[in-house]
Amino acid sequence: MRVSTGIPGLDNLIEGGFEEGSVNLISGKTGTGKSIFSAQFIHNGVKEFNEKGLYITTGDTIKNIKKQAAKFGWDLDALEKEGNLKVLHVEPYDVEKLMENISLSKGVNEAKRVVIDSISMFELYMQNPYKIRKSLFSMLQKFKDLGKTVLVVAEVQEDSKNLSRFGVVEFMVDSVILLQYLGIAKCKRSLNIRKMRMTNHSSDIHPFEIGPKGIELLEI
Ligand SMILES: Nc1ncnc2c1ncn2[C@@H]1O[C@H](COP(=O)(O)OP(=O)(O)O)[C@@H](O)[C@H]1O
Ligand SMILES: [Mg+2]
Repeated sequence: MRVSTGIPGLDNLIEGGFEEGSVNLISGKTGTGKSIFSAQFIHNGVKEFNEKGLYITTGDTIKNIKKQAAKFGWDLDALEKEGNLKVLHVEPYDVEKLMENISLSKGVNEAKRVVIDSISMFELYMQNPYKIRKSLFSMLQKFKDLGKTVLVVAEVQEDSKNLSRFGVVEFMVDSVILLQYLGIAKCKRSLNIRKMRMTNHSSDIHPFEIGPKGIELLEI
């Protein structure tokens, strides 16, 4: 089963969408569109496919996430009120605490789509790389076991060629999508599918725009 990304032009590059129950990394430097991608995945999931969403934010406030989404006409407040979405802000200190919060929170169990924006905060706060791997792995595994399709956002530092801050999460995920600046006047950003397990995917660099309805891939 495939889960539509909600991003126009992307599904047909990846056999129809993300694999159901997969964990997918959206990686990129600041301002490349990771949070917009995430909100679009969640919003369009509810609106077009009737799939409930959970948006976990560790960095931005809930208010900012909703404000940014509203710019594209995505009314996350309304989705929450009708019971189709839960936006959770969690302090990125402790993954165990996060899992506790998540299992206590109403509306979470029904979610088919989950966003964690971003995982880099956990990487930053944890001193011990072994502990980071162990906790992140068990959190992601739990979501997978529940059949949820997960987007994990990783912030890449400006001068880095890595896909995440400490290079920890990319080994745990089923797919990696890299968002980048192209530095070309008309076409500022691009998307590249770096890996997607069990999928015959495009490996081209696809320019995209952030338009009035969010991210849209351009024809190449
Ligand atoms: N309404 C909009 N129309 C076009 N571009 C936008 C709009 N809102 C934000 N952007 C662009 O998107 C960027 C923020 O995208 P975001 O998804 O928050 O990035 P990040 O990768 O840091 O999460 C802004 O810096 C701006 O360039
Ligand atoms: Mg962001």
